[in-house]
Amino acid sequence: MAIENIVSNKGIIDHPRYITNEEMFVARGNWGKVYRCYDRVMEDFRAIKILDPSAIALEQMKERGLDAIKAIKKEANELVNAAYIVPRKFEIDNKGRPFIVMPFFERFFSDIIEENSSDRLYLWHGLDEDSVFKYMLSLIQGINEVHLKLKRAHCDIKPDNFAVDENGNVLVCDLGTSTYLSYGSEFSRENMGFLLTRAPECFIAGSHPDEKSDLWSIGALFYRLFTGEYPFEAEFKNTTNSIDKICLLLDNERNSFYAVDNIVELLNGKIIPHKVLENIPLEMCDCFFKLLSINPYDRFESSTEASLVLKKTIDQFIQQRNYHQIRELFIKKYDYLMNISLSELLKESD
Ligand SMILES: Nc1ncnc2c1ncn2[C@@H]1O[C@H](COP(=O)(O)OP(=O)(O)O)[C@@H](O)[C@H]1O
Ligand SMILES: [Mg+2]
Repeated sequence: MAIENIVSNKGIIDHPRYITNEEMFVARGNWGKVYRCYDRVMEDFRAIKILDPSAIALEQMKERGLDAIKAIKKEANELVNAAYIVPRKFEIDNKGRPFIVMPFFERFFSDIIEENSSDRLYLWHGLDEDSVFKYMLSLIQGINEVHLKLKRAHCDIKPDNFAVDENGNVLVCDLGTSTYLSYGSEFSRENMGFLLTRAPECFIAGSHPDEKSDLWSIGALFYRLFTGEYPFEAEFKNTTNSIDKICLLLDNERNSFYAVDNIVELLNGKIIPHKVLENIPLEMCDCFFKLLSINPYDRFESSTEASLVLKKTIDQFIQQRNYHQIRELFIKKYDYLMNISLSELLKESD
């Protein structure tokens, strides 16, 4: 069936199993619309994503010779056994319209950290250490699964593409199939979130995002969790010129490996490591350096390496923290024992 026929059909879906209506509309994405729906077989609510590309998406699909059905099948990635990717199912309704069925999520990662702008949540500011660690580990493991199990880069890592389950795990919900629709588009405040996690090398015209750029984007989310803002956020807000700055910075990086002075100059002293050093525990700095390196080759080798190192770092950090807590308790108890008289101690043991 031609793309035009699928798109011009105005009904939501015609399927014996899934029931939905306009009141159950959730959101509009690049490729289609998301609705809440009732699954008559499982007798529970689900989410469905129906192919309905925006005008821009359609135009770009034609330009790039993309087949819509192939794209939605890719986005569905049925029967993938993954722990940190939202499970999905590819379906076709009675009129031949393709759609994806997923569990319905009430919360997204954007709800966790957003962004009441004046009142952002981040570490120690509405988010505790253990939750932040849990978010970090599930984010990196989700992206690692996209790389290893789906065998591709995600390229669209941003808070509203991750669902949060009832245990506080962050799960990859949008597989980023629509990424290239946003690449190369003009800077605008509407897609700010997207720009803020985008790796520097992806601002260069003609560049193509890959696994290394995903590592930067994950680092940008971590950075947001620790500092309350994204790397280069102030620069992006102040001027569109920041994109040129980042490109320049990349050129410098290529010409001279140790172009630190230039980087400092270009970003008004706001090089990433300094900001990180002020805000994160020392033990974690190395992970940040290896995610947020301007030069992709200085980043972790892979998301597998990143997730292993991060897990080890967090485990060690927690061990140290517990050790200090126990030590403090012990010292308190010891002081108490040293100051108590023998008769009081005997009374206590009765
Ligand atoms: N499984 C789901 N449960 C609840 N809401 C969802 C679900 N999947 C997507 N959504 C909502 O729909 C929006 C758009 O879906 P998404 O898959 O991210 O599309 P796009 O690729 O166009 O960004 C999401 O940001 C989210 O608010
Ligand atoms: Mg999305």
